[in-house]
Amino acid sequence: MAAAGSGATAGHENWSSRSAFILAAVGSAVGLGNMWRFPAEAGENGGGAFVLFYVFCVLLIGLPVLLSEVLIGRHGQASAPDSVQKVAQDSGASKGWSVIGSLGVFAAFLILSFYCVVGGWVVYYIGVFLGDLFQTGLTGGAFEGRAAEDIESLLPGLFGNGMLMIGLNMGFLAATIFFVARGVSSGIEWVAVYLMPLFFLLFLGITVYGAFTGNFSEAVTYLFTFDFSKLTGEVMLAAVGQAFFSLSLGVAGMITYGSYASRNTNLGATSGIIAGADTAVALLAGLAIFPIVFAAGLSASVGPGLMFQSLPIAFQAMPFGSLIGLAFFIMVFFAALTSSVSLLEAPVAFVKDRFKMSRMTATIIVGLGAAVLGVLSSLSFNDMADFRPLAFIPLFAEANFFDALDGVTAKLFMPIGAILTCIFVGWVADAKLIDDENGLDGVLHQTWRALVRYVCPIILAVILFFGIFG
Ligand code: TRP
Repeated sequence: MAAAGSGATAGHENWSSRSAFILAAVGSAVGLGNMWRFPAEAGENGGGAFVLFYVFCVLLIGLPVLLSEVLIGRHGQASAPDSVQKVAQDSGASKGWSVIGSLGVFAAFLILSFYCVVGGWVVYYIGVFLGDLFQTGLTGGAFEGRAAEDIESLLPGLFGNGMLMIGLNMGFLAATIFFVARGVSSGIEWVAVYLMPLFFLLFLGITVYGAFTGNFSEAVTYLFTFDFSKLTGEVMLAAVGQAFFSLSLGVAGMITYGSYASRNTNLGATSGIIAGADTAVALLAGLAIFPIVFAAGLSASVGPGLMFQSLPIAFQAMPFGSLIGLAFFIMVFFAALTSSVSLLEAPVAFVKDRFKMSRMTATIIVGLGAAVLGVLSSLSFNDMADFRPLAFIPLFAEANFFDALDGVTAKLFMPIGAILTCIFVGWVADAKLIDDENGLDGVLHQTWRALVRYVCPIILAVILFFGIFG
């Protein structure tokens, strides 16, 4: 492995190269958020208006916050709370700012626990398409002779089976634990360096295939025709929220990954690459899914069911449907795994540093915690469907355990974490320190600074407000 960056604290791990850092960070950003959530949100929010505003949010809010996070990590060279604390100390500010890191680590842990539940659904569909490939053969469409309702009911069927849900959830979590336990350069990097390129290859293949066999022009029109009248407050909120989730922001994940970056990585340029790649994948995911869905005459606006229910139906009409479906879900699995690995890494780095534990012990402890929450989330779809853990909070009164975790992290932890990060980097941290770290010059530097100081916190505060009271 290459030498650690010159600024590294003794014993703190490092990426073996700049490209390993980029691949791992892109791996964290590209996940279920791009493949499942983005097309669903775009479809539910009318297509083009949402998409354009989404890109706008990535540039104006996502990118500046992303740079702020990796910058804190790279300067701190430690787990998220300790990195924030180091920047605070070097700026003569209160150690209390480390709360940004602690809240983030906790939120990442919560997200991990339900992210692995959805990861389990992906594993289930891999199994479904694999089985179907054996049954119906290579060349025909998927699920030959089966009614659309029958294919659609696969997901509720899975939800009804608590034991299977838990088993798949635990399987996905176990894979995540395996790679995180192996460490930064030999575990996490390995997944990023081998699985991300494989993901891109499969992904490109499916997009090109969809372009030729599906209804590509309708999809392009749908996704890129900007209709101003469709840009409502609700659509804008959904777009900012999606930009945040997709870039893995607000919950210490990118602070942690930044901490493994070496001194000679240009963080400004690297953040641009990460945000660019993540956005490109989201747009391409739309261009992969919608042509197939439109060609089968299905609706774009079904929401979360789009990838798990509509798309499998659409594969029915396609030659090599089972094979394409199998490839598609394997690809989503890779993307999700590189994201869950980063969600686990943030709390593991913290536990390991703070309690002076080995990586192995820290990973197992955090993993067991995520397993317990995961069981409760898996059961939210069946045996515990009526359990309302946050019944005493009006905003979350109706949420089951899974929805409560999703709601609390997306509506509270992520925006609050990001607002605090902007205030900290924009106003509290030493300007010279920030200037030395960010890799930006001249106008770019000025623009970034203005965005972090004024634009981002204000827009984020509005989102937080409407998320709670809207
Ligand atoms: N960005 C990931 C995705 O698109 C998921 C994610 C959300 C995430 N928040 C995160 C990953 C925080 C790491 C850290 O699927």
